[in-house]
This record gives sequence, structure tokens and C-alpha cells, in this order.
Amino acid sequence: MLAIINLVILVIMLKDPFGRSIDYVRLSVTDQCDLRCSYCLPKGFKDFQEPDEWLSFDEVERVIRVFSELGTRRIRLTGGEPLVRKGFEQLAARLAALPGINDLSLSTNATRLEKLAQPLKQAGISRINVSLDTLQAERYKSITSGKLDKTLAGLMAAKQAGFFPIKINMVVMKGVNEDEVEDMVRFCIEHDFTLRFIETMPMGDTGREAANHYVDLHEIQQQLAAKYEFIDSVMHGAGPARYVRIAGTELRIGFITPMSQHFCETCNRVRLSADGTLYMCLGQDHSYALRPLLRDGISDEELKQHIIKAIGLKPEKHEFRENPQQVVRFMSMTGG
Ligand code: GTP
Ligand code: 5AD
Ligand code: SF4
Repeated sequence: MLAIINLVILVIMLKDPFGRSIDYVRLSVTDQCDLRCSYCLPKGFKDFQEPDEWLSFDEVERVIRVFSELGTRRIRLTGGEPLVRKGFEQLAARLAALPGINDLSLSTNATRLEKLAQPLKQAGISRINVSLDTLQAERYKSITSGKLDKTLAGLMAAKQAGFFPIKINMVVMKGVNEDEVEDMVRFCIEHDFTLRFIETMPMGDTGREAANHYVDLHEIQQQLAAKYEFIDSVMHGAGPARYVRIAGTELRIGFITPMSQHFCETCNRVRLSADGTLYMCLGQDHSYALRPLLRDGISDEELKQHIIKAIGLKPEKHEFRENPQQVVRFMSMTGG
């Protein structure tokens, strides 16, 4: 009887007000980053949160455990750049060991992967997505302020460590890197990476500035379709990409189109920022502060009730098109 009641509660608890099941938490472990991607952070930006504002590893583990008791099965570790958080591998190992979590993935800029790929594999991270917008060193520097060599070394270390799939995230921008779409296709075929193209989103002033370079990905799809034969495909993941495979190859290409064709009706996730705020939607401000509650000594049962209440605030969709000025926080606060 108790098991049935628990099951019923679980089913009810996992739904947001629009009937969507929420089983995926994107966990930002720091808002800091060692790069300054033009569409994300302003050049020279330093105004990050102080480390004492971050949840401790014990607090993070507790929140994720309670989420898993509410049916969360997937965790994606994000930043800023998650690998700049000291002791990150230990946190990853603790989360991987939680019984309910069966998909622990990482989104990274790869600058620190050369050393960390192997330990992260051992820690139990199963999948890695890497931001890479260009294969040209000068351009990489101008987009990110970083060094392409370091990122490529990290990417190859991830491949060497046996991560599969490795997904490359390329934010396509007119007049910036749009001309490299086919180079990136060839690069991903050569290395057996999955390639995802992303439309710029107006997150913060930087994202809005990048929107001046916006490319509707249907254009890219048409450009590639003239050259390659596409086969509809699916891909292991939890995100919003729609995939095709290129005939005669193993290459899958994902199109992430928040602007031209949004995917909010299938949204399955919430975001926990490094300071313990739950954000209900990437493109909205609805949030719920968990840190003060945790530090007030609430019980696990109370924490569950707060999480359920927070999920009750989840909005139906983002309004990036209707209201592009709305979101003032940078992407680095919630990790995309
Ligand atoms: P997979 O599980 O591998 O499919 O991961 P993912 O594609 O969800 O994760 P990743 O961190 O690589 O994100 C890729 C892009 O998708 C980023 O630009 C994210 O900002 C975007 N994205 C992820 N979730 C959402 C979402 O809920 N809404 C919007 N608008 N964009 C999202
Ligand atoms: N628009 C679209 N994608 C963005 N990302 C960061 N900022 C933006 C933006 N304004 C992407 C990064 C990374 C992913 C997690 O989010 O390229 O791959
Ligand atoms: Fe850093 Fe990622 Fe933002 Fe680039 S997109 S500045 S790598 S947080």
C-alpha cells in the first residue's frame, strides 16, 4: 500500500503546471569561466559570485539526492565553466554514486580537459558536450579570448579517455563563423564527434549583442542538404536538439533552434545555479532560492515540498522573441 501511495505521489510530484514531467536537472557548479565567449560574457568581465555564495558539495549532493527521490534521473554539470571549480571530480563522483541518477553528463569549454578527461571518466561522467565555434586559432581567440590549441588538446583527451558520444556545440553567427559550417562537418566526421548547431539566444546584453549575428538554422540545414543526403535520426541525450544523420557516415548533426522553432512543449528540466537558486526556465526569471532554506536546517521532506512548490512556478515557455530584453542574467549563471 505504502509503495502504491509513494508511486502516486511520485507521478504527481514530477509534473509541472503544463503536465510536463521534470526528470532532468542542469546543475551549474560555478558562474566563473576562464573564457569570455562574445555571446555569453563581456570581455574583461570579473563580477562573479563569491565562492562563499556557492552551495558546498554536501549541500549540492543533498539537493540532487532529494531531486532523485522525486524522480530525477539525469544531471548535467554546467558552469560558467564547471572544471574551474576546485575538487570538481570529487563532486562528480559523489553525484554519480547516487542510486537514482543514471545519466551524468558535462558541458564544458574543454580548456581543462587535457588533464581532467581521464579522472572525470573514472568519476562516472558518461557524456561530454564541448563548446567549439571555430577551428581557426585567430578566430577562436577573438570569439572566446582563449587558445584553440588548449581546447583541441582537451577534446582529443576526452576522445582518448573513451567518452562517447562527444558532442560539439557550435553557436552559428553571421559574419563571424557561418563560413565554417562545412569545415566543422568534416572535422566531426573525421573524429567521430556529434555536431550541434545552435541559434544565438538573447541572454544578457552579450546574448542580445550576438543576436545581431543571428542565423536561422533552417538556412544551414538547406545549405548542407544541397551537398549531403540527410537521414532522420535520433541521438542519446536529453536536450532540445533535432537530429539528422549524413548518409554514408556516422555523423549526426543536431539543430538547436530556440528562436526559429522553440521546443518548450517538451521541456523536461530545471536549473540549479551555483548559489542554490532554482531557475524554472532558461529564458524567464521564475526562481526559487533553496540556499537559505538549506542553511535554516530544513528536513529532506520539507526540501521536497519546496522543490514541488518551485516546479509549480515553471512557466509555459520562454519569450526570447516576444520580449528579448527580459533576461538580464548572463548565460554563464545557468550554464545554458
Ligand atoms: P544533451 O543531453 O546532450 O542533448 O544536452 P543539451 O543539448 O541539453 O546540453 P548542452 O549543455 O550541450 O546545451 C546545448 C544548447 O542547448 C545550449 O546552447 C543550451 O543553452 C541549449 N539548451 C539546453 N536546454 C535548453 C532549454 O531548456 N531551453 C533553451 N532555450 N535552450 C536550451
Ligand atoms: N546563445 C546560444 N547559446 C549560447 N551558449 C552560451 N551563450 C549562448 C547564447 N547567448 C552555449 C555555449 C555552450 C552551451 C552550453 O551554451 O556555446 O555550448
Ligand atoms: Fe564560458 Fe561557456 Fe560562457 Fe563561453 S559560453 S564564456 S565557455 S560559460
